[in-house]
Amino acid sequence: MVAAALTNLSGRGVHLAQLPPLSLYVHIPWCVRKCPYCDSNSHEARGEVPEEAYVEALVRDLELALPAIWGRRVYSIFFGGGTPSLFSARAIDALLSAFRARLALAPECEITLEANPGTFEVEKFRDYRSAGVNRLSIGIQSFDPRHLRALGRIHDDAEARRAVEIALERFDNVNLDLMYALPQQTLAEADADLRTAVSFGTPHLSFYHLTIEPNTLFHRHPPSVPDDDAAAAMQELIENRLAAAGYVHYETSAYARPGRECRHNLNYWRFGDYLGIGAGAHSKLSFPDRIVRQMRTKQPGEYLKRVSDSAPVQDEHEVSRADAVFEFMMNALRLTDGFPVALFSEHTGLPITAAEKALIEAESRGLIVRDHARIQPTELGRRFLNDLLQIFLSGDEGKRR
Ligand SMILES: C[S@@+](CC[C@H](N)C(=O)[O-])C[C@H]1O[C@@H](n2cnc3c(N)ncnc32)[C@H](O)[C@@H]1O
Ligand code: SF4
Repeated sequence: MVAAALTNLSGRGVHLAQLPPLSLYVHIPWCVRKCPYCDSNSHEARGEVPEEAYVEALVRDLELALPAIWGRRVYSIFFGGGTPSLFSARAIDALLSAFRARLALAPECEITLEANPGTFEVEKFRDYRSAGVNRLSIGIQSFDPRHLRALGRIHDDAEARRAVEIALERFDNVNLDLMYALPQQTLAEADADLRTAVSFGTPHLSFYHLTIEPNTLFHRHPPSVPDDDAAAAMQELIENRLAAAGYVHYETSAYARPGRECRHNLNYWRFGDYLGIGAGAHSKLSFPDRIVRQMRTKQPGEYLKRVSDSAPVQDEHEVSRADAVFEFMMNALRLTDGFPVALFSEHTGLPITAAEKALIEAESRGLIVRDHARIQPTELGRRFLNDLLQIFLSGDEGKRR
């Protein structure tokens, strides 16, 4: 069936017989305070957040985008940030009602909200659940008070623990975000965080290696972080303990009990489609003959203004064939199980031969294994993911434009 879908092999475009699954991302761009390591589009909420105006803008933004996703079912919704839990449950309820009225949500639609223990309120958590949120992702980062301070977090370890306990009373589906290789962190301290995280038994855990990102305070004033060997030892400990506790390591930083993977993120990693609304949100949308990326304007004030002018999208461009190959691999090779060969054509509209030269090189360097049905990164490939991706950057479709 896939071959029949590829009628346009010699041309520059793509041909998608069927469009990939669609998710909705909603960006809430404010936080109480900017963390020194964070490069996401988040702004310190000095005083009141314009919640009502922003909710109205998001609904208008969605309405403007509807023609691009007409008739398509939405499989997951993700409220990310920033700190979405700064918003009242009433605002989230209003948004979800507006989405239900305008979109065909799949019956099992996963609806995640990112919550920060610093803005934690028991009532809000219960009311988020009543509004229809069915998955909570809590930004814990560490359970160690010294590390929380070094990370500039506004919550302490007791608040972090309490946030998890109350979340688990209200939600069956909870994720905890933690980071490792923190400033001055020892292996024993990383282990203590790991043990505490596992003790709650949440169905999903994310462990991120702290990266020093450009345009952050940590980049300007770098803290002393564990060296590569120490960080690798932490990563190994995390993998071993979580495997022993029954978690499947399904993506670079993500661990889930069997069947409890994050559907929204899985759709990103499978090069699925997503409409992103809100300040700075990114979208990737497929049409039968092209794949398009969009970015909405980043500054919240400007975003509100541009929505009122019916023009929130600041940048829109078609994804070239070379970029489609690279972007697909950049996502799908993060998955421990890799991907079925057919998925490549289904979601890029290109034949797998478009990546053949790069696949041969990756295989010969021991970074992937493949057969007629599946392509999968090896342990080496996962460890040196950047080297693996580099091969696809300069791969068959030539230099990216
Ligand atoms: C987009 S952030 C939002 C989460 C939420 N606002 C919070 O901080 O609690 C999602 C997650 O990415 C991770 N993260 C953010 N910056 C990071 C960095 N520089 N290195 C590694 N992980 C990072 C953190 O674990 C964070 O919880
Ligand atoms: S609370 Fe989360 S989104 Fe906000 S600055 Fe900190 S890490 Fe970034």
